[in-house]
Amino acid sequence: MNDVVLSMRDIDKRFAGVHALKQVDFELREGEIHALVGENGAGKSTLVKALTGIFPKDSGEIHYMGKLFNPQGPKEALDAGIAIVHQELNMMEHLTVAQNIFIGRESTKRTSWILDEKSQNQRAAELFKRLNVDIDPTELVRNLTVGRQQMVEIAKAVSHNLKVLVLDEPTAALTDREIEDLFAIMRDLASKGVGMVYISHRLDEIGVITDRVTVLRDGEYVGTRATKDLSKEEMINMMVGRVIYEKPKEKSSVPKDASVVLKVENLNAGRLVQDVSFELRRGEILGFAGLMGAGRTETMRALYGADKSSGDIWVNGQKVTINNPIDAVKRGIGYLSEDRKRFGLAVNLSVEENVVMASLEELSPHAFINRKEFDKVAETYVDKLTIRTPSIDQIVNNLSGGNQQKVVIAKWLIKNSSILIFDEPTRGIDVGAKSEIYHLMNELVAEGKSIIMISSELNEVLRMSDRVAVMCEGKLTGFLDIEEATQEKVMHLATLRM
Ligand SMILES: Nc1ncnc2c1ncn2[C@@H]1O[C@H](COP(=O)(O)OP(=O)(O)OP(=O)(O)O)[C@@H](O)[C@H]1O
Ligand SMILES: [Mg+2]
Repeated sequence: MNDVVLSMRDIDKRFAGVHALKQVDFELREGEIHALVGENGAGKSTLVKALTGIFPKDSGEIHYMGKLFNPQGPKEALDAGIAIVHQELNMMEHLTVAQNIFIGRESTKRTSWILDEKSQNQRAAELFKRLNVDIDPTELVRNLTVGRQQMVEIAKAVSHNLKVLVLDEPTAALTDREIEDLFAIMRDLASKGVGMVYISHRLDEIGVITDRVTVLRDGEYVGTRATKDLSKEEMINMMVGRVIYEKPKEKSSVPKDASVVLKVENLNAGRLVQDVSFELRRGEILGFAGLMGAGRTETMRALYGADKSSGDIWVNGQKVTINNPIDAVKRGIGYLSEDRKRFGLAVNLSVEENVVMASLEELSPHAFINRKEFDKVAETYVDKLTIRTPSIDQIVNNLSGGNQQKVVIAKWLIKNSSILIFDEPTRGIDVGAKSEIYHLMNELVAEGKSIIMISSELNEVLRMSDRVAVMCEGKLTGFLDIEEATQEKVMHLATLRM
């Protein structure tokens, strides 16, 4: 058995109004991949933040390589060989990929900026080569998709000399192929003795990549088990205290004569949106599948007026011009972005402010702000989506990642759009909350709304969609009715042009 590299005992942490960690234990061995799982808000991120010195724990002890360890900040942890890749990306978007990787540790014997830049680019290129990922070091981070940004974060972490690597939901934004790449990197690190803490809501992955699993529930330590002795059902049971089944959809629930609410013809916007045409019916969930970079998000952004595009769009049979998101909202189209930090949330405002913000007009048509009404609406949705927050006045930034996502969903549900575009709606959301969101989506279409759902999780696409549209490299490569759709058929269309 490998040596214990890290041991955390009785870790306790309170925030105002929340007891986030209650005497939690955690242990990591050399070369071990150790999953940390639990529902949204269970305390996973808090535990690893305490470990990496992002904020202090209230009490408890951390032993690292046989010594008491009490980092005063992330830099100290990093210097000691403990790195963390965060759940919420935090990159300098206006800098290049290489600059992001080497930020804060530019070489000291700088001869000239240009030389420095050149050697950084070279080192970044070598790093990517070693990791087998294809990213241009000179590209501006802002131009990368969320998934690629995540890969840069991972590369940045592993570019240090590490003993412990913490990955807080690293795969949430990655597609299957990239996940494979990441796993190869992780296995390689493990073989070199690096211990890894792996936080994920994708339980199938945990079975594949981890050696042990530690479960937290409501800030409490539930237990640690060897992965091979733990079934998925048992794991879910430990996490949520109940059993949840996932079943694919067997047939479309859209009536044959349902009207077309949205028609898109020859939509074009750059390389990733080429002649995209499709129809969406009333009450339909149209799933958009594809690998990362297939152009799904770009298509929806073009449709929503967030990016410049050409093409024809009809809403309820009426030809419309959508030049910007305001036009789209007027036509009853809502867009729930995959990148909630950038487009979805005002993280420094409260839950209530975020939830009701998009609906100001509907809720107070005469610009008469009825605070009570707002409170009621916000409370209802916090309840409905089981958003874990001490109150509706909590600042969104203080919520766990999954609960932030639920705030974005609440916002668009209230907005009363008849066409909802959900881009990776359950990314980073735990199994329990996921099934609540699925339930809600089904309710929405039963009420006559229509949903476009982009998802990188094939399970989710097959479980929710009435019909599946598949994209590859900027083109729509096919549609599958749910009755005929299988993982294999979707993957075939997703790689058709490669
Ligand atoms: N800075 C903070 N201020 C106040 N409360 C916080 C803060 N950070 C976290 N919390 C609260 O602590 C609890 C644990 O949050 P944490 O982020 O650790 O959850 P998590 O297990 O990582 O969840 P997720 O799966 O959604 O990422 C939550 O109730 C959260 O709202
Ligand atoms: Mg978290």
